[in-house]
Amino acid sequence: MSVKTSLKYHIREMQREDLEEVTTLEAACFSMPWKYKDFEEVLTNPNRCYLLAEADKVTTDIPDRILGGCMLTHIAGEGDISNVAVHEKYRNNGIAAAVLSALLKLGKERYGITAFTLEVRSQNIPARRLYENYGFVSKGVRPNFYEKPKDDAIIMRKDD
Ligand SMILES: CC(C)(COP(=O)(O)OP(=O)(O)OC[C@H]1O[C@@H](n2cnc3c(N)ncnc32)[C@H](O)[C@@H]1OP(=O)(O)O)[C@@H](O)C(=O)NCCC(=O)NCCS
Repeated sequence: MSVKTSLKYHIREMQREDLEEVTTLEAACFSMPWKYKDFEEVLTNPNRCYLLAEADKVTTDIPDRILGGCMLTHIAGEGDISNVAVHEKYRNNGIAAAVLSALLKLGKERYGITAFTLEVRSQNIPARRLYENYGFVSKGVRPNFYEKPKDDAIIMRKDD
């Protein structure tokens, strides 16, 4: 069941205390999830940043503290977006859009990034729509890039 009302949250960078819950979010959203140690590495990598949406208040309606998040990796002046995830019961409330928007802003301000890229499953319509809303356009296909289940990857790019 999705939560439509009273969903108040703020966006901030991941800290050590968040690692367990971010790993749980990742496992709930992906068939080949990043593990705890992968997120732990982000904390000490100056070219990586993970932003998360944290509920202002944990309640019976909103039992999770961390609702969603996504990752930016700075590589040679460009930004790679990955690990975009929102717990199923909080989807369709604009959380991914809010975190992605904040991450694009952070990328420009912190690293001077002017071009962002990402890969998305061809069958993942919600994610493709989300990225298109933010100006990402398809630049090519990597056939059978994904496993579990097999799928093509669409490479998307956003230039400023
Ligand atoms: C993709 C995902 C992160 C979207 O999270 P979300 O918080 O529900 O997204 P938002 O509410 O911010 O929606 C943003 C846009 O996505 C699109 N969207 C979201 N859910 C959709 C759906 N079920 N069908 C079609 N479009 C959808 C809409 O265009 C929406 O924009 P709109 O509000 O202008 O209509 C979420 O579905 C998820 O975690 N999926 C599993 C993990 C995943 O696939 N991650 C992406 C990997 S590339």
